[in-house]
Amino acid sequence: MAQTIRKVVFPVAGLGTRFLPATKAVPKEMLPVVDRPLIQWAIEEAAAAGCTEFIFVTSPHKRAILEHFSPAPAYEEVLTARGKDDQLALLQAGLPETAKITEVYQDQPLGLGHAIWCAHEAVGDEPFAVILPDDMVLHKTGCLSQMVKQYEEVGGNLVAVETVPREHTSRYGVLNPGAETGPLVEVKGLVEKPSPEAAPSTLAIIGRYILDPSVMEDLSQFNKGAGGEIQITDTLARLIGSLPLHGFRFDGRRYDCGNRAGFLAANLAYALSPNGAGDQSDLGENLRPMLQSIIDAYSAT
Ligand code: UTP
Repeated sequence: MAQTIRKVVFPVAGLGTRFLPATKAVPKEMLPVVDRPLIQWAIEEAAAAGCTEFIFVTSPHKRAILEHFSPAPAYEEVLTARGKDDQLALLQAGLPETAKITEVYQDQPLGLGHAIWCAHEAVGDEPFAVILPDDMVLHKTGCLSQMVKQYEEVGGNLVAVETVPREHTSRYGVLNPGAETGPLVEVKGLVEKPSPEAAPSTLAIIGRYILDPSVMEDLSQFNKGAGGEIQITDTLARLIGSLPLHGFRFDGRRYDCGNRAGFLAANLAYALSPNGAGDQSDLGENLRPMLQSIIDAYSAT
């Protein structure tokens, strides 16, 4: 059986240009879906999957992310005095009591592969998870929990995949798929951001990975790939043959919160679904008629 996944890396050093001007002073990962920032949803997913060490790859102008997980004495004092225990608990921001937080900087956004490499010392010599907080997967069992279960069987490198429209392949790392066993797809090759014509399939990698520590050595070569960026996809492709690589078709619906439509859709889905912000039972009830009237008002325009 493969090693336990204790560590999770959150690459959050990107510029978030598609959300300007919102992301000029507020990091993209701090944009809220319903009532918590994207990064908190990601933390909760990792904690549910058994992770205990949370490694942030961040940059100096994104301090707000770490602040969200720091003590907030001003709030604690006021809420304690008012006896608001429920709200006091919310200050924990989804972080398990025993969590270890590590922060490393990526000075320049040289690509996802480079961001992951920046975590090499914190990761050390054990397999680890990577979550891109702007990819959300809505399901009663978190995507990373589903992956950890599969990983225990197959080991190696594991990436979450889903079928995307062919016209979108140039946004993703795309699989050259081999044999399929249940939700697992053997990966024979990978291409980063292929044109629709060149894509070997429409099976694309989304923002969840379980990686062997040996990826760090390949990443340390700083080879540039698509868009002049250092791509984790290229490293995974190079390691095929020395390590098994599988795609995992997860259960749940993915929302790409890196673009406006996906982000807005995630807000609606997480508000309406009992698997989203399900603790607020009247939220969906209140929202549904409002949503219907918005659709009625604007659908013809
Ligand atoms: P994106 O490709 O969505 O880039 O990165 P971005 O900078 O966040 O957003 P746009 O495209 O400018 O709007 C996916 C994830 O990888 C992280 C980002 O922070 C995001 O969580 N990332 C990307 C890094 O940490 N470093 C990088 O060099 C690139």
